Amino acid sequence: LSHDENMDGTTRERLSHIQGIPLLERVVKYWPRVEKFQASEEDLLIATYPKAGTTWTQEVVDSILNEGDVEKCKRAPTQVRMPFLEMTAPDGSSSGITKLEVMDPPRVIKTHLPIQLVPRSFWDAGCKVIYMARNPKDTVVSYYHFDRMHLYQPDICLVLCKMGILGWGSWYDHVKGYWKERHNKKILYILYEDMKEDPVREVTRIAQFLKRQLSKSTIEHIVQMTAFSAMRENPMANYSTIPDTIFDRTASEFMRKGEVGDWKNHFSAGEDAAFEEHYRKIMSDCPIPIRFTI
Ligand code: A3P
Repeated sequence: LSHDENMDGTTRERLSHIQGIPLLERVVKYWPRVEKFQASEEDLLIATYPKAGTTWTQEVVDSILNEGDVEKCKRAPTQVRMPFLEMTAPDGSSSGITKLEVMDPPRVIKTHLPIQLVPRSFWDAGCKVIYMARNPKDTVVSYYHFDRMHLYQPDICLVLCKMGILGWGSWYDHVKGYWKERHNKKILYILYEDMKEDPVREVTRIAQFLKRQLSKSTIEHIVQMTAFSAMRENPMANYSTIPDTIFDRTASEFMRKGEVGDWKNHFSAGEDAAFEEHYRKIMSDCPIPIRFTI
């Protein structure tokens, strides 16, 4: 497959490149505006590889900043409350940048950019960053369903080993990039599996990072508000406001399963063994404590 193709060989969403990283063509088209974006010190960046639990992290952060006030968190859909930095609407009518330009700091900003593409102003301003990583098997299964690339089961392991062809590039480079910089910059590195295992513990960590003193009952309330079942039913957090011309919900749902280990329903034993070998080799220089089951 060439880098211009999707995994199914179609050109439904074409990819183009910035510094060798494949990105949607419309992201590349408006790249100069993204690159020049002026972050302010109070802004918070939520960075993830696609399908790692971005929306979940966003909802947790917004709930913390609003001290668990459900109505405030329902003031607007996710993409309006916490704009997607590099994204542009398919028709070019709006973008993360145009939304952010009319918002006053402190802003909560979503990005899937690998660390080397994050606009310089975030680092110059000393912004805080929350990075969430998710194990690559569940990430690719989620990505696969999100892209609705085939109506039959593809060789998911092959796809995974070649993840560099996906939008936003290689999962490996992405998770390692933020991991290696986490002590040099203000990066809180969290894991999807840890959050599933003990959301009270992880939400408390995030609140501490954001310097918010919340009572135990508020934390527990936030955990309930941001549970998969609650977010799936919340029109302001489940992307139901995205038109059907963009999200074909007959193919898959955005709030699909929200589990750890769904990969077991997609990987054969042979694919899993091949993947494990590949994974161990590539991750040997970077011991991120990612778990595939909890
Ligand atoms: P699945 O496709 O495995 O269900 P992103 O927001 O980065 O695009 O990630 C989407 C993935 O996160 C989807 O995974 C989605 O179901 C899951 N997700 C969203 N909200 C969640 C929550 N509150 N708890 C657990 N998983 C959640």
